[in-house]
Amino acid sequence: MARNILVTGAAGYIGSVLVRQLLVAGHRVRGLDALFFGGDSLLSVFGHPRFEFQRADLRDPAALAPALADIDAVVHLAAIVGDPACAQQPDLAEAVNLDAAVALFERCLATPSVRRFVFASTCSNYGRATPGEFVDETSPLNPVSLYARLKVRFEECLLGSAVRSDFAPTALRFATVHGLSPRPRFDLTVNEFVRDVTLGRTLRIFGEQFWRPYCHVEDLAGSCGLVLASPPERVGRRVFGVGDTAENYQKRMLADEIRAQVPDARIEYVPRIEDPRDYRVDFSRIRAELGFAITKRVPDGIREVRAAILAGVIADPDHVRYRNIA
Ligand SMILES: NC(=O)c1ccc[n+]([C@@H]2O[C@H](COP(=O)([O-])OP(=O)(O)OC[C@H]3O[C@@H](n4cnc5c(N)ncnc54)[C@H](O)[C@@H]3O)[C@@H](O)[C@H]2O)c1
Repeated sequence: MARNILVTGAAGYIGSVLVRQLLVAGHRVRGLDALFFGGDSLLSVFGHPRFEFQRADLRDPAALAPALADIDAVVHLAAIVGDPACAQQPDLAEAVNLDAAVALFERCLATPSVRRFVFASTCSNYGRATPGEFVDETSPLNPVSLYARLKVRFEECLLGSAVRSDFAPTALRFATVHGLSPRPRFDLTVNEFVRDVTLGRTLRIFGEQFWRPYCHVEDLAGSCGLVLASPPERVGRRVFGVGDTAENYQKRMLADEIRAQVPDARIEYVPRIEDPRDYRVDFSRIRAELGFAITKRVPDGIREVRAAILAGVIADPDHVRYRNIA
């Protein structure tokens, strides 16, 4: 079924991939973004007959009515993204990631045409887990950063609100993303490691023993389309982790995957005994209940990011526009 979908954060790393996927799937897409990192990522969809763009800051209440006009599904990606960016600008993070998100959500509830709301949450909500154990959607949350605390608080609002019976909100807890997008990011572990090795730098890895789950940006974006295509009773008021259980890696395993493709990579390990974010995630729920399956693994992300840098199509991978902190 073709939908009218609002994607907030449409110009971002995940949003710019998602917009293309939704257009290919036949939907009409309104992208909303304040363009904090520019808008080049949307250039190739601008002429598309089913795409329109609204440049707006979600903190502006006047932006909401035009954003939601004729919309039946919202994918809410816009945020101040990552622990460092939120720590650097905590007031902005709270205003965008919580206050503006709640205002958008309440406006959606009050807009009868809107029946789906997909929220980009994060596996960072788990924080530090018991070593050796897997966490999943039923595990206690232990957010250890402002970024994750704000995600948890908005999840609570999303799942705890008395919503209309024809309104299906869903929280997706994304793994850490890797791979290429029209808005590349090099402040994410895999992409950053590949950039540094490809540019001939010595990679210094802190806390190589700590686990995290990873997921390719195309598969993550695909999970949003999958949720929108799933029956509302299966996804409404639900949380799904997005990733693949086999794609949990220790940082030293990431380094091994890089070395498999770049045998002369220079890699040093810097011992660290504590990391507040150390978790392995079991992603059985989204696979079993929605049929989610990844199409790319970490070695694929490594290969494509390295190829793009080597080919020179990302002229300056160190440029500030490719990371979320100055
Ligand atoms: N990248 C990851 O590893 C990852 C992991 C887990 C969850 N997520 C979540 O996925 C979502 C997208 O992440 P991303 O990696 O694409 O980030 P990104 O920073 O590349 O994109 C975010 C976009 O939101 C826009 N934006 C920010 N504040 C806004 C505002 N007030 N009004 C309008 N637009 C605004 C920015 O301009 C940017 O284009 C975020 O909610 C993030 O928390 C990302």
